[in-house]
Amino acid sequence: MIPELKKILEEVALLQPPPDLESLNEIRLKYLGKKGSVTSLSRGMRGLPPEMKPEAGKLLGEARQRLENFIGASEKRIKQETVQREIESEFFDVTLPATQPSFGSRHPISIVMDEIVEIFISLGFQIEEGPEIENDHYNFESLNFPPEHPARDMQDTFQISGLPLLLRTHTSPVQIRSMEKYRPPLSVIAPGKVFRCDADVTHSPMFHQIEGFTVDEKVTFGELKGTLDLFIHRLYGPKTKTRFRPSYFPFTEPSAEMDVSCATCGGAGCRICKQTGWLEILGCGMIHPNVLRAVNVDPDKWNGFAFGLGIERIAMRRYGIGDIRLLFENDTRFLRQF
Ligand code: DAH
Repeated sequence: MIPELKKILEEVALLQPPPDLESLNEIRLKYLGKKGSVTSLSRGMRGLPPEMKPEAGKLLGEARQRLENFIGASEKRIKQETVQREIESEFFDVTLPATQPSFGSRHPISIVMDEIVEIFISLGFQIEEGPEIENDHYNFESLNFPPEHPARDMQDTFQISGLPLLLRTHTSPVQIRSMEKYRPPLSVIAPGKVFRCDADVTHSPMFHQIEGFTVDEKVTFGELKGTLDLFIHRLYGPKTKTRFRPSYFPFTEPSAEMDVSCATCGGAGCRICKQTGWLEILGCGMIHPNVLRAVNVDPDKWNGFAFGLGIERIAMRRYGIGDIRLLFENDTRFLRQF
């Protein structure tokens, strides 16, 4: 028994520090567990001859003591190491730069559209919207388009196959829908999408218009000019000149187109204005009596003016965009610039 105990003491002196609590527990079981070697040897003490007992007892006590010291120290070390590892794995550097959130930006069409709508809101106009899917009555007939008018041509209008419906070709139907909803006096600004079967560098099958109109008693063409002049001065600055050219629209009489002086050359003539010094900006006129009749408004009592303008052309000039398709490709490298 003495040699066995000495061997255990030697073994214990050479024990390698266990890496974790499981391996430490194996060591403890091996020596101090119920079937462990130290435990079995101390059970054997009783059967020893008395003269051997003191030495064996001393060795046994020493083995037990060393093992307990070893186990206690190992346990403490392993627990410390575990805590240390946890601290290290949870560490983060608060001084590192944060990942930048990426911000979107407003679409140039929305920027221009809102700016124009705001100007008319400040003049007392109310915003109205109409559906993008319309019928012939609202898009053409009630707006005094003769049945054979070329604007009804299938090449311009997207008809919805199999149904008496179409994609509206302009925002003018909102004139009709607003007057069905509210009785005059009434001033409306109506922004929205419109559709025409046309596509090239300056035409997109979907584009945006803003319609505006006023119906009241004794409205004059002078008020139309004054309102549009004021609008243009707010949009392009007070130095901008305007001019009106006679034109034709079925839903206005008289009709006009309004030009603004070219901001690029100040009117002297350049590439942008094709050497004319003027840029066409909108169509307008005095609302045709037939349009008022179509919504049961008495043209002998009420009259008004209307105008309509395209947003894309204004935005393209302002931001120097040469190709309309860039506006709708949704390439974020393009859109981020605004
Ligand atoms: N609806 C016309 C178009 O799409 C634009 C227009 C012209 C609207 C004259 C008007 C107007 O209200 O008076 O081409």
